[in-house]
Amino acid sequence: MSILIKNGNIVTASENFIGDIFIENETISAIGKNLKYEADEVIDASGKLIFPGGIDPHVHLDMPFMGTFSSDSYETGTRAALFGGTTMVIDFILQTQGKSLRSALEEWKGRSEGNAVGDYSFHMAVTDYNDNTKPEIREMIEEEGITSFKTFMAYKGALMVDDRQMVGLMEEVKQHGGLINVHATNGDMIDYLVQKNRNEGNRAPIYHYLSQPEVTEAEASERFVDMTNFTGCPGYIVHLTCEGALNAVRNATRRNQHVFVETCIQYLILDASLYEQDFEGAKWVMSPPLREKKDQETLWAGINQGLVNVVATDHCPFFWEQKLMGIDDFSKIPNGHPAVENRMELLYSEGVHKGRITLSKFVEVACTNPAKIFGMYPKKGTICIGSDADLVIFDPNEKHTLSAKTHHMNVDYSGYEGWEVTGKVKTVLLRGKVAISNNECLVEKGYGQFIKRNKVSDKI
Ligand code: URP
Ligand code: ZN
Ligand code: ZN
Ligand code: ZN
Repeated sequence: MSILIKNGNIVTASENFIGDIFIENETISAIGKNLKYEADEVIDASGKLIFPGGIDPHVHLDMPFMGTFSSDSYETGTRAALFGGTTMVIDFILQTQGKSLRSALEEWKGRSEGNAVGDYSFHMAVTDYNDNTKPEIREMIEEEGITSFKTFMAYKGALMVDDRQMVGLMEEVKQHGGLINVHATNGDMIDYLVQKNRNEGNRAPIYHYLSQPEVTEAEASERFVDMTNFTGCPGYIVHLTCEGALNAVRNATRRNQHVFVETCIQYLILDASLYEQDFEGAKWVMSPPLREKKDQETLWAGINQGLVNVVATDHCPFFWEQKLMGIDDFSKIPNGHPAVENRMELLYSEGVHKGRITLSKFVEVACTNPAKIFGMYPKKGTICIGSDADLVIFDPNEKHTLSAKTHHMNVDYSGYEGWEVTGKVKTVLLRGKVAISNNECLVEKGYGQFIKRNKVSDKI
């Protein structure tokens, strides 16, 4: 099977030119001007952008969490991702405290295998690091191609690890060539503030926000950065939201230390005023919470300063019925919101179209850096000969409106209802197959592959 894409504006993290792409089977086999190959299918991309398939390295599909499950399965979540130009996601396995990493991996395989439409991989969240877990780190890296390990400094009593476990895990992960990811907020401070607010009868969603002030994130980020400096383990802060936390990373650059930073699309474009309504604010109850307008400006600038390396989503959808679990108590509202389908178009529209970032920066933070940081480059994340033919053909001028009525995520509301975007995903190829065309998905459940990842470094 071969496909020739003609006359598109090809964009990578470093280049931008008009050309053709020739695809044989799953990979790109030629790039150039006026390519004269016989192909089974020819796609005219005149007037369109072509960029690498998006990679969202932070999603939660079918995840047991806060007494329920996130509502997108591997099928619905990866399909919705494809509709939005994201050809690969990295999901999180959660170890159950007292049990092995291996048993958690088997449980996640049970839900994912044969079900994904788009490609996927796993991070392993270590919630209980001890003498039994230690040898499993090497196993995950060497045998399973799972090379990143997530830790939570929050969710006390459920997922949180203490600093002793964190430092031990970092030493082991470093030794075997892995990377440590962190949800960096101070779990003890948050736990105290949550209980205090509940005791005072403060039960509305806004108290979720007020129980996780900026200092809880800044403090934990600083502690994490210091621990990675001490151990020498490559580090990656997930869903960073605010100026105080980014300053911890900025300070580390003064000693020539680099910690990777991910923010999420919602922290760039939504702010905490959304919590100032009654229970409706539950739609945006997530951890960390939305912040201030000043933090949005800091994050956009951080992208251009090279401090923020990745824009993900932390896609973790729940039906309204599930959000209602917290109608009388903000601490029982399942944390998370749906976004995997909207990330690329929102980032293009709010970032590139509005002049905040360049087109190449867009590709860098949405496609290329996730592939580089997580050990998949150049198979994924770029357009070059030999890369997987994961491509997005994008109309930079088409305007449309986001809505739960038209999205493909398995959830009955949108965090972006009525949002006008400029730029639309038109055609998506995944490993050489046309996966999305004319608003239709042309690949079946089971087409998505688990991608084994390589060892990583702290340089990209
Ligand atoms: O609110 C969130 N972020 N839910 C998903 C779990 C996490 O902390 O990433
Ligand atoms: Zn070891
Ligand atoms: Zn988190
Ligand atoms: Zn998350």
